[in-house]
Amino acid sequence: MTIRYPLTTPDAAADLPVRVPLVTEPLGLLASLRAARANILSIIPQIAVTQPMVSGKTGIRWHMVMDPPAIRRMLLERLEDYPKSGVTKNLLRPAIGESLFIAEGAHWRWQRRAAAPAFSHRNVAALGPYMTRAAEASAERVAAAGPRAVNMFDEMVRATFDVISDVTFSGDEGFDRAAVHRAVDAYVAEAGRVSLFDMLGFPEWMPRPARMMSGRALREMKTVADHAIDARRRRGAEGVPDLLDLLLAGEDPETRRQMNTGELRDNLLTFIVAGHETTALTLSWALYLCAFAPAEQENAAEEARRVLGDRAATADDVSALPRVRRIVDETLRLYPPAALVSRTARAADELGGREIRPGDTVMIPIYALHRNRLLWEDPDAFRPARFRDPKAIDRYAYLPFGDGPRICIGASFAVQEAVIILATLLARFRFRKVPGREPKPVMIITLRPEGGVWLEAEAR
Ligand code: HEM
Repeated sequence: MTIRYPLTTPDAAADLPVRVPLVTEPLGLLASLRAARANILSIIPQIAVTQPMVSGKTGIRWHMVMDPPAIRRMLLERLEDYPKSGVTKNLLRPAIGESLFIAEGAHWRWQRRAAAPAFSHRNVAALGPYMTRAAEASAERVAAAGPRAVNMFDEMVRATFDVISDVTFSGDEGFDRAAVHRAVDAYVAEAGRVSLFDMLGFPEWMPRPARMMSGRALREMKTVADHAIDARRRRGAEGVPDLLDLLLAGEDPETRRQMNTGELRDNLLTFIVAGHETTALTLSWALYLCAFAPAEQENAAEEARRVLGDRAATADDVSALPRVRRIVDETLRLYPPAALVSRTARAADELGGREIRPGDTVMIPIYALHRNRLLWEDPDAFRPARFRDPKAIDRYAYLPFGDGPRICIGASFAVQEAVIILATLLARFRFRKVPGREPKPVMIITLRPEGGVWLEAEAR
């Protein structure tokens, strides 16, 4: 199907990595709807990368905020006045209930406090062996597939799913990974097309064509998880505690409340949905960028080979791999997996000099923030060196994991995993572009490379 709406022409400059074409003229409601269903990012106007704020009215009042002090106000100073918008919640609630990602107020706070210790630096480092094992297995699969071109997006989805299923339900015999994987994929594919109705907060009862999600797939996913949790309760922790053990032991230090089986299941599924594809996307886009910029790739590969030799990376290696880390940081800038976050204003306010009324939809288009000309030099170029001095970057200009109390709980887990897998692959292979097979950035819940990331992997 061809969708016609005014877009900038794709950049002809061969020295820039692929971009989402942004809207240059105001779109009517129907055109916006069509554009948003194809690619939610394509409703972001071009001026969002040149201005601090863009506002409009398409049925309801909305604003896009690219102004760091205004973002700080939303995410940190006035958190209670900017709850997550209906769109996020409506999309995810059927799969992950009132879990950490969705809950607000007191119900969010106790869950966050109970789950926080599981993601402490020490515990994330202790989960390193699961990541190292997945990196090794991935490198072996890539070696076996070569020298043919490999779809590294599929490969990275597999590798990160190995990690998340191992750290959530490690060694559980009753846990059918394939069933959960199928269910998560079915869910994201069927329910994941964010409609503009959702985005702009239309009433709940409006028909949403993309909302025909598979109830059976969801039930299957929940049943599998409940059985695994009950089995673990009976069995107790063995060996290196995984996330399920840590959550089973976790309690809110203030209320001493612990999660019951349903709450544990919703949160573990949240970690799978929130943590697996996002990390796979980071890795796939990082590999695309490495193939796009061979000199940057060689620079990072040289570091990885020096530190690792022939072995897979571990959590202890991460601090010795700053160049690999900078590639991850710059990838998260250019292709932030959560490319747009959305809130609904609860109180009257002013943001970046604009009047905010209760009920307004206030979006932070992280994709546009990361490419805003007022905040970044040469924003569309791939330059990992800009992260050499992270303090020089305005904290609220770079938000791949959000910020404030609701910042991604899995951020350090994700970065550690991405560095371990990327370093292991770069030490062993040289990745090359396959002409004519450029991925196209499309946002369906997350910012995905349509067509896959096809690369040739030559053994070093
Ligand atoms: C590169 C990978 C990842 C990216 C880019 C990412 C991004 C984000 C962002 C932007 C938010 C905030 C959303 C908002 O404010 O509306 C968030 C929240 C969250 N993420 Fe991640 N995430 C990643 C990996 C993970 C992992 C590995 C896990 C768990 C294992 C995870 C679990 C969560 C949870 C539970 C929340 C909700 C936290 C709360 O509201 O208290 N994420 N993530």
